[in-house]
Amino acid sequence: MCGITGYIGRNEAAEVILEGLHALEYRGYDSAGIAAFENGGISVLKSVGKVAALEEKLAAHGNFAGAHCGIGHTRWATHGAPSDINSHPHGNERIQIVHNGIIENYAPLRAMLIEKGYDFVSETDTEVAAKLIDLRYGESGDPLDALAAAMREIVGSYAIGVLFADYPDKLFAIKKDNPLIVGVGEGENFIASDIAAVLRHTKNYYQLGDLEMAVISASSVQIMDIDKRPLHPELQTATWSIEAAERGGYPHFMIKEINEEPSAVEKTLHPRIAGMLPDFSGEKLSDERLRSAKSVTFVACGTAMHAGLVGKAAIESLCRVPVKVEIASEFRYNNPILTPDDLVIIISQSGETADSLAALRLAKSLGAYTLGIVNVIGSTIAREADNVIYTWAGPEISVASTKAYTVQISLIYLLTIRMALLRGNISEAEARAYTETLYREMPEIIRKTIATEADIKAAALKFADYEDLFFIGRGVDYYLSMEGSLKLKEISYIHSEAYAAGELKHGTISLITEQMPVVALATDEALYEKMISNIREVKARGAKVLLVTREGAKDAAAEAECVLYIPPCDPFFAAIPLATVLQLFAYHVAAARGCDIDKPRNLAKSVTVE
Ligand code: M6R
Repeated sequence: MCGITGYIGRNEAAEVILEGLHALEYRGYDSAGIAAFENGGISVLKSVGKVAALEEKLAAHGNFAGAHCGIGHTRWATHGAPSDINSHPHGNERIQIVHNGIIENYAPLRAMLIEKGYDFVSETDTEVAAKLIDLRYGESGDPLDALAAAMREIVGSYAIGVLFADYPDKLFAIKKDNPLIVGVGEGENFIASDIAAVLRHTKNYYQLGDLEMAVISASSVQIMDIDKRPLHPELQTATWSIEAAERGGYPHFMIKEINEEPSAVEKTLHPRIAGMLPDFSGEKLSDERLRSAKSVTFVACGTAMHAGLVGKAAIESLCRVPVKVEIASEFRYNNPILTPDDLVIIISQSGETADSLAALRLAKSLGAYTLGIVNVIGSTIAREADNVIYTWAGPEISVASTKAYTVQISLIYLLTIRMALLRGNISEAEARAYTETLYREMPEIIRKTIATEADIKAAALKFADYEDLFFIGRGVDYYLSMEGSLKLKEISYIHSEAYAAGELKHGTISLITEQMPVVALATDEALYEKMISNIREVKARGAKVLLVTREGAKDAAAEAECVLYIPPCDPFFAAIPLATVLQLFAYHVAAARGCDIDKPRNLAKSVTVE
């Protein structure tokens, strides 16, 4: 949560920082602020609302013209409501900081600082960090000693960018458990929560490690550990292009990203197929691991967790290995039973989700083998897991996850086929047939699904005015109901519930009225008749029904007011096109309601707080 950036170089600092903040808004957007060296001191401007509001305020102030070093922040509130006062940067005339993360021991630190004579104007934990650094700077007179001392005292997670008024030609940064990169340009350098913020200027960057510090001038970058010992991390080069991180003519990132699904699936699967069989030798994922795993546990949050549910269905049916799916934030409370023979798969688009990271660390400490399925290269989960398989979805900017989910489930299907082959559940010919269908047919099936967008939009318009809605399904369709429901509520603000269709009659059916429409997912032929019975039950109570099924489903048009079809495809992979239908449905409902689709209220793309 929260995006931080900083710039030092020959260009106008405010311009570069604002551009970076726009790229980082997916991390939080309830308020924003900037600090830069101006007229011999540090000037600060902050504004509640999106970065555009800060931009207006800054223009009225003259854009900090002539400032060549500064820091900026876009916030997702944790301590203190969104307000001008609570916005970052925080500090005083001697030091200003921007912070992403949480200072867990802020209360005792605040009390100690008050005793030392410090005043506080905001409700934030960040102001405590700023004043702690200021206190230690006052004592030592050395910025690095002050930052190191603060790191020793702070309990929690942070990526912090710092300006010291005494050092107008330097940017400072420290980090623990929150991402921070140092972008390296020619005669200019940057700090940022992620590379997307600086891609217009450079693709080269250093990843700052935990409890490390950086001192950055226009022409140099020094990285050191907490004891000021120099470190020499490898310079990395981002593979993402600016175009990939921009909207490319689409009205929203969400619809752009849905349209990228076919190619994202191809890019993700292609490097892991050899002789039309799944091949994870590039990842050095040992066959023995997959062959001998006694159980599989998927751990993830939100949409990524829903991908795990599809994985459970696939692995259990094809490999006959027990699979659990755990909500990452609940994992530790379930007192997990794990051994080195258990495989724990952490799924995360960002690779920075705090709950998923905590679960990964717990699973490792219990001795399980951990595998990350991650989209963002070099992210913390990717680095800390015993092994990682990257999904090559490219940057996903919209808060609502779409293409990341589609590539996650596609990759899990491929892993399932490999596992089933290794364990002797399927023959090589069968594995080849599954792989061929997944790789050769599914991208085209997604394209065909996207081609039905007009029908999906027409259906969406019929449901856009309701304030409540149910999704129902059985088997994998139930798991997709959960994902469809999350997508809809997240971006349209319609209250929506996902229910196992057979469970409705055990209480919840009392909520079904003519004001409670139902989206019934029935793509599984074997469960179709049972779903039709459930549809009749809700129709009898007045519900308007949208049925999503496969082409050719018996009497579909007669059973529901509205019907959408997934293109004919192998039923084992039907979740893939069904996901696309539900994403497009949510998108068009939200568009019809005039919602801020890419930046829904109260949310952030990367959830780096527990
Ligand atoms: O970056 P991650 O995949 O770890 O994020 C997990 C969830 O926060 C994420 O999927 C969230 O549920 C999406 N906003 C849903 O669209």
